[in-house]
Amino acid sequence: MKQEPALWRVDLLANCNRSGAKGAILGWFTSPGFAVATYYRVTRWALLKGGLHKLVSMITWRRIVKDYGCYISPKAPIGAGLRLPHPIGVVVAETATLGRNVTLYQGVTIGRRLAENGAAPVLEDGVTVYANAALIGDIRIGRGAVVAANSVVLCDVPAGAVAAGAPAKVVRRKVEAGPIVEEVA
Ligand SMILES: CC(C)(COP(=O)(O)OP(=O)(O)OC[C@H]1O[C@@H](n2cnc3c(N)ncnc32)[C@H](O)[C@@H]1OP(=O)(O)O)[C@@H](O)C(=O)NCCC(=O)NCCS
Repeated sequence: MKQEPALWRVDLLANCNRSGAKGAILGWFTSPGFAVATYYRVTRWALLKGGLHKLVSMITWRRIVKDYGCYISPKAPIGAGLRLPHPIGVVVAETATLGRNVTLYQGVTIGRRLAENGAAPVLEDGVTVYANAALIGDIRIGRGAVVAANSVVLCDVPAGAVAAGAPAKVVRRKVEAGPIVEEVA
């Protein structure tokens, strides 16, 4: 059985196109996206571990909020290869689910429709969400779909489609899937 590469390796490749320990050190200092993805991984790992680790989770989570203005809940599962080209003001609700190789640009919000209704979007593998888009409620964004800048997405988007506008509509059906990073050196 093929072994899955470690999450940080896929995050590193997605954000910096680098690999290995040296690449990770360089990536940490040169790519804020890789730094935020790594903080998120540590935050979630510590949360799931429980006990005193929750303190570590709280500290690293606060670090993401303070240093980058991103509010990514560690309760939200996010697949390998989280790419954050400009990690400022990204919000991911605790009930959201993100697949592998998802790209989120600055100001993206993935949240609940109403505070009292818990459901938040599911983003399948290879989804790209451009600047300042809001994806809200119990919706599913299909594999390789693209959400245009400043869109407000309130309904499902089919795989490979481009959705734009507020409220968003499908403006194009892409042929190829989104950027999927499959291999790690
Ligand atoms: C998603 C995006 C890549 C779409 O590109 P595309 O698939 O080539 O689509 P097109 O540019 O051909 O546009 C298709 C239609 O959607 C509309 N559209 C595209 N982007 C839109 C947007 N953000 N909001 C509303 N409508 C939009 C176009 O006006 C066009 O409408 P028409 O068919 O009536 O003329 C692009 O519009 C986008 O949002 N880029 C964001 C880039 C960004 O965030 N840059 C900052 C990085 S730091």
